[in-house]
Amino acid sequence: MTDADIAEVVEMEQGACAHPIQAWTADNYRSSLRAGYWARVRCEPEGGRIVAVCVVMDGVDEAHLLNVAVHRDWHGRGLARALLQILAERCADRAAQQVWLEVRPSNQRARALYERMGYEAVGIRKAYYPAPQGREDAVVMRLWLRPEENTHALD
Ligand SMILES: CC(C)(COP(=O)(O)OP(=O)(O)OC[C@H]1O[C@@H](n2cnc3c(N)ncnc32)[C@H](O)[C@@H]1OP(=O)(O)O)[C@@H](O)C(=O)NCCC(=O)NCCS
Repeated sequence: MTDADIAEVVEMEQGACAHPIQAWTADNYRSSLRAGYWARVRCEPEGGRIVAVCVVMDGVDEAHLLNVAVHRDWHGRGLARALLQILAERCADRAAQQVWLEVRPSNQRARALYERMGYEAVGIRKAYYPAPQGREDAVVMRLWLRPEENTHALD
């Protein structure tokens, strides 16, 4: 992803989210690119329209999935799952131990995706996200890249 992609990515993500307030802003993407985070877009094979985006902040032995979004026309076709699989393989190559993320409790689709990929809920950040009315908590989720460590999930 480059600065030239930002406007298209923001429009794509706003269309993908249940409410535009849930989408990242152009400034969020700009500062991520400036910070050198791992940011990738996926384009349609024909036409080149951007259909997915993924932004990851690398730590010493972990990674933080900051954002993933898929074009509404492409939902349910495995694109997010494929991106998260690439992320897990990349983390394993870099000897990262775990991947962290935050997700809105109301975002059942994303939570189902993360759970199916092996992420477990490990905490709550109160009033973390702006919401259509006030603020919304975040569920903190973690993927151990060694599956035997996945034993501390919240109920
Ligand atoms: C969440 C999101 C990224 C999923 O992308 P996607 O490409 O549609 O997901 P996939 O097709 O790879 O689906 C993978 C899993 O997600 C879940 N999922 C996908 N579509 C779903 C739906 N309509 N209802 C419930 N769960 C669904 C399922 O667990 C699915 O697993 P399965 O394929 O084994 O059934 C997409 O809905 C999106 O862009 N949402 C808006 C942005 C967002 O909320 N990002 C997450 C921020 S934390």
